[in-house]
Amino acid sequence: MILPIYLYGHPVLRKKCEDVKAEEKEEIKSLVADMFETMYNSEGVGLAAPQIGKTINVIVIDGDVLGDKFPECKDLKLTLINPRLTVITDRDPVTREEGCLSLPGLSENVKRHEHIRLEWLDEDFNPHEKEFSDFASRIIQHEMDHLEGAVYTDRIAPIRKQLIKSKLNNISKGKVDCDYKVKFLNK
Ligand code: NI
Repeated sequence: MILPIYLYGHPVLRKKCEDVKAEEKEEIKSLVADMFETMYNSEGVGLAAPQIGKTINVIVIDGDVLGDKFPECKDLKLTLINPRLTVITDRDPVTREEGCLSLPGLSENVKRHEHIRLEWLDEDFNPHEKEFSDFASRIIQHEMDHLEGAVYTDRIAPIRKQLIKSKLNNISKGKVDCDYKVKFLNK
């Protein structure tokens, strides 16, 4: 089932998410399926639960479409339940452009760590641990921010934020031009 995506400005995107419990497994499985469907429908490469209105630690990622430009994203399909991220500081942070399904029509330069280690459960609640770098690491960090109630515009320079203020206002009022179903404040 394709779900509406909550837009920037909605308070659900500002909540800190909670871990999922093992007894919620079946419910989570169906939610994860809906999240993948919703993400593919909106041509995103990642989606975090708050973006569909749920304040739980669940993320879906499929970066394969970026594989030509970023080889580390080829076949990068992940369901992250209760993920924990550790930054590895062997490489310098890098600034690159990124966007978000909750902020349609906008992209900004964001500085991110290049190398991380992640621990998570998959949709069968099996534990995994792996290191990610470059754009794969960026996608994961972007989605992890959502679980903390943060969005990427929290990380841009104040002057840039000032410059895009009216665009952000429009997004929060639902004045967006996108092909997928959205939900915004007071609606
Ligand atoms: Ni996002």
